[in-house]
Amino acid sequence: MRRRRRSDGLRRLARETRLLPDDFILPVFAIPGADREQDIAAMPGVRRLSADRMAAEAGRWRSAAVLVFGVPEADSRDETGSAAWEGDLVASAVRRLKAERPALTVITDLCLCAYTTHGHCGVLTEGAEVDNDRTLEALGRMALAHAEAGADLVAPSGMMDMQVGAIRQALDGAGYTGVGVMSYAAKFASAFYGPFREAACSAPGRGDRRGYQLPPSNRREAIADALLDEQEGADWLMVKPALPYLDVLAELRRRSRLPLAAYHVSGEYAMLKHAAQAGALDEREAALEALLSIKRAGADAVITYYAEEAVQWLAS
Ligand code: PBG
Ligand code: ZN
Repeated sequence: MRRRRRSDGLRRLARETRLLPDDFILPVFAIPGADREQDIAAMPGVRRLSADRMAAEAGRWRSAAVLVFGVPEADSRDETGSAAWEGDLVASAVRRLKAERPALTVITDLCLCAYTTHGHCGVLTEGAEVDNDRTLEALGRMALAHAEAGADLVAPSGMMDMQVGAIRQALDGAGYTGVGVMSYAAKFASAFYGPFREAACSAPGRGDRRGYQLPPSNRREAIADALLDEQEGADWLMVKPALPYLDVLAELRRRSRLPLAAYHVSGEYAMLKHAAQAGALDEREAALEALLSIKRAGADAVITYYAEEAVQWLAS
């Protein structure tokens, strides 16, 4: 076996998986107002930006696609998350990004948790459980607001049953037949979302998300859930987090014909960043290895806070 590993040239020739600049989707956090930016302590190098700053930075981004999250002011939250579709936060970021960089692919996160006072991903019933069907109506309205602003894909992340079908129906009913759905199809109830909840201020006030997100122990259940999203008309499927669930990613690659995204989440990013800052590992080598392994397992695109650095590393 060593004969084919003897030189860099031979190793390159036999390389089975390659990272390309086109592979990455950069997550970005939009805040209200103008000329504002905020650091996120748990995620060094990641900032929340107002729409004008975001558009100004977009001119320099090398990533081909972004995933936009809205982080509204705390006082604009309510029980049902109505600012998610009535407010202009994500919509204005999308409009500014598209005006600045028409060729940038803009994907929007579709979930209520940043907009509800209780921080859950859906509207709650009296019994404080998530009311699936009322949440679907809200997601439909939110999808239309994003589509109207010019989003290419909407990405529902709340793990409500039938959400893909409901969103597809809402989009088609309003004439947005060209706007696609990237479903967070296999999203696990994971501890690796910790830093994100600081970034998006979206930690649930009471309880947790285990009533709607997937149990980390269950691969069969994850595949079944993801394949339902395909039947409901999803254009893309996603597995999230990435590294702890590469087995799910690899199996879903075999079971579906749709393009697959994997979300290298905030905790996965933070582990590498903080370890690198402590001098425990070579950041570039470790991050590129992590991203490569996600692609090798079957991802067509990787959503990662390392997107910008990865594109630069690959070019240098
Ligand atoms: C909320 C949402 C979460 C993430 C994306 N959308 C957190 C959660 O479900 O609690 C996680 C992203 C990350 O950790 O980078 N619907
Ligand atoms: Zn949510």
